[in-house]
Amino acid sequence: MGLATHDIRKHFGTIRANDGISFTIESGSLHGILGENGAGKSTLMKILSGFYEADSGEVDLDGETLDLRSPADAIKVGIGMLHQDPLVFLPFTVLDNFVLGSPGPQRLDRSDARAELERVSGELGFRFDSERLARDLTVGERQQLEITRLMWLGAKVLIFDEPTTGISATQRDQLFLTLRSLAENGLIVLFVSHKLEEVEELCDSVTVIRQGKVVFEAAMPITSEVLVEKMFGKVFVEEDRDPAPFGAPVLELSRVTIEEGTTHIEDLSLSCAAGEVVGLAGLEGSGQRTLLRACAGLLAPSSGLLSVDGNNLNKASYRDHLAAGVHYLPAGRLEEGLVEGISIAEHLVLTSEDTGFFINWDAADEAARQEIDDYSIKGRPSSPAEALSGGNQQRLLLAMIPDEVRLLLLEHPTRGLDVGSAAYVWQRLLERRSDGTSIVFSSADLDELLRYSDRIVVFFAGDVFAMRNVGETDGEELGHLIGGKVRG
Ligand SMILES: Nc1ncnc2c1ncn2[C@@H]1O[C@H](COP(=O)(O)OP(=O)(O)O)[C@@H](O)[C@H]1O
Ligand SMILES: [Mg+2]
Repeated sequence: MGLATHDIRKHFGTIRANDGISFTIESGSLHGILGENGAGKSTLMKILSGFYEADSGEVDLDGETLDLRSPADAIKVGIGMLHQDPLVFLPFTVLDNFVLGSPGPQRLDRSDARAELERVSGELGFRFDSERLARDLTVGERQQLEITRLMWLGAKVLIFDEPTTGISATQRDQLFLTLRSLAENGLIVLFVSHKLEEVEELCDSVTVIRQGKVVFEAAMPITSEVLVEKMFGKVFVEEDRDPAPFGAPVLELSRVTIEEGTTHIEDLSLSCAAGEVVGLAGLEGSGQRTLLRACAGLLAPSSGLLSVDGNNLNKASYRDHLAAGVHYLPAGRLEEGLVEGISIAEHLVLTSEDTGFFINWDAADEAARQEIDDYSIKGRPSSPAEALSGGNQQRLLLAMIPDEVRLLLLEHPTRGLDVGSAAYVWQRLLERRSDGTSIVFSSADLDELLRYSDRIVVFFAGDVFAMRNVGETDGEELGHLIGGKVRG
């Protein structure tokens, strides 16, 4: 009895999100699906739960091959999935949400439905006020409601895709207890995460996915070092770095403390000179983003000194940072960097420096054509940003960086890009470095960090854990440091 996949394949354009995935999971186990961002985990889970159809391959449950064409098909055979933000109808009550997925042809009357809700949630140890509006529930409670509903519908396999994002530590502990007891009661619980600590803490067994392929399967416990190596791969670095000569310091942090949520970067001193590249390593959410945001002026340090070209920017606004030549490129392209519904030409006009009161659209169109050409963007001046592929969105963001930048802050500059696009992005970035721009970037890719950084700052659990000059470290040591261990 169990769940198995055979050679599942799914591509999006040129990206092979799932590239031949096969695994078997026994009933009654809490199984981790671990992999860095973009590895293909969510795609696989959406296939298992009927949200996507695979290009090819097979899913078997308890020895039977399934024909999954919709989420309704999946739940009929007992596979249910909780999305990151559970799909709950916010303006409706808890009870309405519960019966919206009512099984069978006969609708329940309200009192029967309430009795069922109480029975199933009681078995799971949850308590709901059935007349409360779903919008008043916390994300943790919405998850509980969705678990209750899926269990009532007869789930045998429950999929949790990154379920700890956006919930408190207490809710997380509660969720973990629930997942354990579901597995003990014979379910298959798939716990999808890019967070090593969570999988180590919770799971009986693990499958590691990298670049759309299964690279490792084992029963837990497995050491963090091994899991890190499986997640990121063995690192081969070409000896092709020619460091540009450094100029004067551009970014200087002196005994800076920055706090944001559970991140607490304490007493950090760091400088980045003109022409220098500093890489920020660490598991997702270990503090790298907080540091970038503070350097960009989106978050004020609580103490210490932050300066750019000798100008104190401690209390300076985002605009002041821009004026000082600081440019920040966040990871969530469309969410943070580009605006939906706005064309390539319009984006470039909005960021061009000499925008007068009236916009000359003919000139703007011509300028956009030039940038499209320079940056090999596959699109037209009138293409809306959301119509571009990830690689082309990233190229547009690069084209939008002003010419005179002193400090470039980049979050995962090549995440999700194919190898060719990633190499192109770095080629353009290294040109800027040679012109004396300082670059600070975060990445989950050890190879990228070792290849392009002069120095690497490793984050662990919300603070800086170690710093290394790139010539003095290697992929193996970085893997240890990222997992919070100093090589013995
Ligand atoms: N709907 C989609 N359209 C285009 N590309 C996608 C889509 N969904 C995922 N991808 C791409 O497929 C790859 C795997 O994504 P995903 O399965 O979401 O990974 P994970 O959940 O492990 O972070 C990524 O490169 C991602 O950009
Ligand atoms: Mg995902």
